Amino acid sequence: MNSKTEVMLVPFHVAAVGEEEAQAAADVIRSGWLTMGQKTFEFERRFAEYLGVRHAIAVVSCTAALHLALEAFGIGRGDEVLVPTTTFTASGEVVCYLGARPVLVDVLPGSMNIDPQDAARKITARTKAIIPVHLAGLPCELDKIRELASAHQLRVLEDAAHALPASYRGTPIGAISDATAFSFYATKTLTTGEGGMITTNDDKLAERVRIMRLHGIERDAWKRYTSDGSWFYQVLDAGYKYNMTDIQAAIGLVQLHKCDDLSAARRAIAERYTTAFAKLSCLETPEEFADRTTSWHLYILRLREDKLSIDRDRFITELKRRGIGTSVHFIPLHLHPFYKTKFDYKPGDLPIAEAQYHRALSLPIFPTMSGDAINAVIAAVLEIATSFRRE
Ligand SMILES: Cc1ncc(COP(=O)(O)O)c(C=O)c1O
Repeated sequence: MNSKTEVMLVPFHVAAVGEEEAQAAADVIRSGWLTMGQKTFEFERRFAEYLGVRHAIAVVSCTAALHLALEAFGIGRGDEVLVPTTTFTASGEVVCYLGARPVLVDVLPGSMNIDPQDAARKITARTKAIIPVHLAGLPCELDKIRELASAHQLRVLEDAAHALPASYRGTPIGAISDATAFSFYATKTLTTGEGGMITTNDDKLAERVRIMRLHGIERDAWKRYTSDGSWFYQVLDAGYKYNMTDIQAAIGLVQLHKCDDLSAARRAIAERYTTAFAKLSCLETPEEFADRTTSWHLYILRLREDKLSIDRDRFITELKRRGIGTSVHFIPLHLHPFYKTKFDYKPGDLPIAEAQYHRALSLPIFPTMSGDAINAVIAAVLEIATSFRRE
């Protein structure tokens, strides 16, 4: 190892998976039925029960879930969909898949979630849907979004890639809007390696999504290789290959069982961080709200740069030197070359998101973090903040 290479004491993320998940995956492999089948349907049933929603449809990723939901809404060429600029490109790219235009919306300075007032300003005759993204797992102001949606006949698709489990005014995220998309990517609060889920209370929407996730083939196409299946099937539309596999679902079932405990472990880490960092005025801890619970997928710390002699980038470098992994969520979409060139966005267009982006960093927060690791992160952040604090 190069002597200059930092030893990572606390990585940004480690997945909370172990022997139980390995055993569940091995059992599926030994069963001989690897792709979508009974395990996937059991995972869907249990997931729907957990959230208290009528339908849960398992797919390969949250990106696929978002795409299928928009397709089922009937979004197409010429339509506009409102998307916050502070998100991962998946929330915007799916709009482009359908030939529609993602209209980027600024965020609230506190939560960094979509600003309903800015969304209202950007509605045109072509606006068909809105995608509130629950950043870091903190639910958006869903009452205001619902009001806006009903006033303008918009469909609401929640991007809950970060928000399992989370709730808004007592109702779990996933059981509120027209459709909700979850991610089971490796870093997420529930993981199947890669994976996703669409939840909805709308029977027709669920039916369309079930057909389109498997090549547009009529229902129960998956059964064609089972003993009670038939070789005959009919293609109803040009669908996608987005189905989950039973190997992923078996891992997901184990993770779902642990979901509340994993979430409590994240919350305990967040509480330790907030208590420690609230003492320094150059650090801004994440906002919390009495009417919502967050999943604490991310812990986004913001710097008050007027009170520090270093900027966010240098703060990250200093943490790295001390062996602490970090990340940044997110580079606003309107600053990426694709959104700039295709949709004419430029720096300054969405100023609140930009200002927050420049002072935000995400700290390690994962359920298996040891007490020593949590202490190491706190000590490093406090040491850097104290050393570079402006008097
Ligand atoms: C806000 C948001 N939406 C969507 C996605 C896409 O999730 P997936 O990787 O499961 O497609 C991500 C992934 O990190 C995300 O952060």
